[in-house]
Amino acid sequence: MSSDIDKESADWLSRIDAAATPADVEAIRIEALGKQGAITARMKTLGKMTPEERKTVGAALNNMRQTVQDAIQTRKVTLEDAELDNRLAAESVDITLPVADRLPGHIHPISQVMDELAEIFADLGFAVKSGPEIEDDWHNFTALNIPEHHPARAMHDTFYFPAEGEGAPKLLRTHTSPVQIRTMMSEAPPIRIIAPGRVYRSDSDATHTPMFHQIEGLVIDRDITMGHLKWTLETFVKAFFEVDDVVLRFRPSYFPFTEPSAEVDVGCSFAGGTLSIGGSGDEEGREWLEILGSGMVNRRVIEMCNLDPDEWQGFAFGVGIDRLAMLKYGMTDLRAFFDGDLRWIRHYGFSPFSVPTLSGGVGA
Ligand code: DAH
Repeated sequence: MSSDIDKESADWLSRIDAAATPADVEAIRIEALGKQGAITARMKTLGKMTPEERKTVGAALNNMRQTVQDAIQTRKVTLEDAELDNRLAAESVDITLPVADRLPGHIHPISQVMDELAEIFADLGFAVKSGPEIEDDWHNFTALNIPEHHPARAMHDTFYFPAEGEGAPKLLRTHTSPVQIRTMMSEAPPIRIIAPGRVYRSDSDATHTPMFHQIEGLVIDRDITMGHLKWTLETFVKAFFEVDDVVLRFRPSYFPFTEPSAEVDVGCSFAGGTLSIGGSGDEEGREWLEILGSGMVNRRVIEMCNLDPDEWQGFAFGVGIDRLAMLKYGMTDLRAFFDGDLRWIRHYGFSPFSVPTLSGGVGA
């Protein structure tokens, strides 16, 4: 019996040895050791043997099973290694072939302009802040000196959320000015920040979309004057439009959160159908284009943020980013910014791979 098993074992081993591929080895494993396999079947006969037989035959069968199993494993590894060696020798990669043509993505003009603004203001020592787009009534209006029933609220075409219990309902912020409040409430002055971000108003035509972008600026320190505001805005506009002979006109205006307030116009020309920034709007062939709102922060706003307005003053401004992008890069319809049309983004977008045409900042 035992020599019989030895012979069978030798047969399996020589078949395993002769197997040419890992698949052949696997076929032999199933034939020998699988559920219906020959060796498995023989193992099952052990139960019917006398204890005496089981002692000798059992050991021999176990031995055969182990030997065959090990041989299969070894042969498989050898064949798999050989297969890999063959492939490595046979296949080659031609690194001179052109790469498959894949369209690169584009940087949206809004993102590009936000980067440009952050870079310009970083050079002036401004930090970038953000605030929630779902805002509460107090930060969006009340703390900015726009109390309930103030006519300025009506001008904002606010999107409100359904009321939840007591208190004013939450809203989508109508401007980036609440970030002023959040910064003054959480940081001790001196403060120099910009806050770019999305804002929302129920409005839609060629120059208005329900969602658009603003950038807020805020400086709070001792002895800040309108002179600082004028210099900062002039420096920013020159750097952003990459034009030196920028002329700004400060027009008296009204915002509840600034006093005095000024709307700022930039001199420009539309000669030849294209906009070019520069020169005074009072010159022949030129005109004034409104670009932003600004002013000295109203002392009531400073008080509302628990600061002493006799010690701390400053200026603030708010600019439409989308409008800045349109003026600098020549788009005419704001709605196209948010349509997601690939042809538009390929035309107006910026390559992520080339160095962006940043203004280089101040003094560059
Ligand atoms: N929050 C104003 C708006 O959305 C813009 C603005 C005007 C912001 C004057 C300011 C400012 O900080 O001083 O219409």
